[in-house]
Parts: sequence; structure tokens; C-alpha cells
Amino acid sequence: MFELRLVGIGMGNPDHLTGSAKQALQTSDVIFIPQKGSEKSDLVASRRYICERVLERQPRFATFDLPRRDPCQPDYLKRVDIWHDEIANLWFETLNKKLPGGGTAAFMIWGDPSLYDSSLRIAERLKPLVDGLKVKVTPGLTAIQLLTAAHSIPLNDIGAPFMISTGRQLREQGWPEGCDTLVVMLDGDCSFNQLDGENYHIWWGAFLGMPNEIVISGQLHECADVIKNTRQKARKQHGWIMDTYLLKRQK
Ligand SMILES: C[S@@+](CC[C@H](N)C(=O)[O-])C[C@H]1O[C@@H](n2cnc3c(N)ncnc32)[C@H](O)[C@@H]1O
Repeated sequence: MFELRLVGIGMGNPDHLTGSAKQALQTSDVIFIPQKGSEKSDLVASRRYICERVLERQPRFATFDLPRRDPCQPDYLKRVDIWHDEIANLWFETLNKKLPGGGTAAFMIWGDPSLYDSSLRIAERLKPLVDGLKVKVTPGLTAIQLLTAAHSIPLNDIGAPFMISTGRQLREQGWPEGCDTLVVMLDGDCSFNQLDGENYHIWWGAFLGMPNEIVISGQLHECADVIKNTRQKARKQHGWIMDTYLLKRQK
């Protein structure tokens, strides 16, 4: 029997780990650590660091390199579909190699496994390959919670909805209709640029929950350039950056 645990770990700070996450990692036979290229090696190191700091017993790790998405495939969804199949096959091989007689393997998922993370979709692809595979999720703190906490703001207005989207959607589709509060993730291009800054307020955060956390907020037209420059500088300094922002349209 195989059990696959997808454990939300928050944003790389050992204090973000819940008691349930600690328990799930501690009692796993092996922790899988996929590597996404050298620029993200900080993220691999932070997973190991969390285990050193938080777990009473040091786990067995299995590290493997993730395949890259095929840049020659022009259709984005098809590209991701093929890539997920490749990753599922890699998980399958690693499971058989590291746990030949069955057992429990865990992934330390950045933030929460349900938010802009494909591990659950990849685990679904593994089910037909692995007889009786059990998949268990442990929730974690998301970048959104870290952002609203860092700025001490509520996410939604009273009784009002909000939307979570990506930089790509904002760039390609513009401001979503019927929405006044928008959280934007996965944006490598400062897509807020194309909005009329006078009508929006922004709360931006990079490296949230980490020692190098940066937060900026204000009227979009007043701080768009400050955010762009800060982002560029921080990216150069660390080799990578992860940022999230909340926009509110003013009525
Ligand atoms: C693949 S998604 C993962 C989201 C994650 N599962 C969660 O629950 O927050 C990666 C995006 O999350 C956001 N993100 C992750 N870590 C962050 C951090 N420490 N600070 C700011 N944003 C972060 C960024 O928008 C980044 O592009």
C-alpha cells in the first residue's frame, strides 16, 4: 500500500508549520523534494531547514529534478498537460525505487496544496498507476494570508466577494467584470501596469513570511514604479522572487 501526503508548509518559515503538518512529515517514510533548477535552490534548502528545525526525527529525503515544460508546444494547457504526465511518471518511478515494498511518501507543498499548485492534479494521474494509492492533504498557510497579515488588512469588504487570479489573466483579459477586490498571483510582469492607477489601491508583498519580506502599499499610480524598481532589485539580488498583491477598485 502506498500513501501520498501533500503537506502544506506555508512560506518557508518553520513557524508556519501546523501541528498536523509536523505530524504528517514526521511519520512519513520518505520526503520527496523535487528541484526546479538552480535559481530555486533556496526553496529546496528551506524545506530541508524546516525539517531540521521542526522535526524531532530527521526524515529520509529523495531529491529529483523536475522536467521542464516543452517551450515548442504553443498551446499552454496542452503544454501543462504533457508536463503533468511526465511528472506523474517521475513520481511513480521514484515511489517504486524508494519504497519498493510500499509505504508513505510526503511532499512539502509551498503554501497550501489547493491553491495554484498542481500536486493534487498530478496525484490523480498517479492513481491508475498505483494500486490502492491513498492521497492525503494537510492544509497550509497561503501567500494570500501572509499578504493580508503583513499589511494588517481584511481580504474582503463587508459581505462582498473577491477574486483570485493570475498576472497572465490580468494582462490578457483586463480587470475582471463585477469584481472590486482582486488578488493576483503568479505575475512575473507587474501586470498592474496596464490599469489606470488612479482608480486602484494596491497592497504588494514579496518573500512574504521570510526574513527578506518586502511590503509596499498605496494608490497604484503613486507606487507602481516603486514596486517595479523594488521588485527588479530584489530579483537581481536573490536570483528569484515570489510576490503577490491585492488590488481594490475604488468606487
Ligand atoms: C505556484 S503558486 C503557489 C501558491 C501556494 N500554493 C500558496 O498557497 O500560496 C506560486 C505563487 O504564490 C505566490 N507566492 C508564493 N510564495 C510567496 C511569498 N513568499 N511571497 C509572496 N508571494 C508568494 C506568488 O504569487 C507565486 O507566484
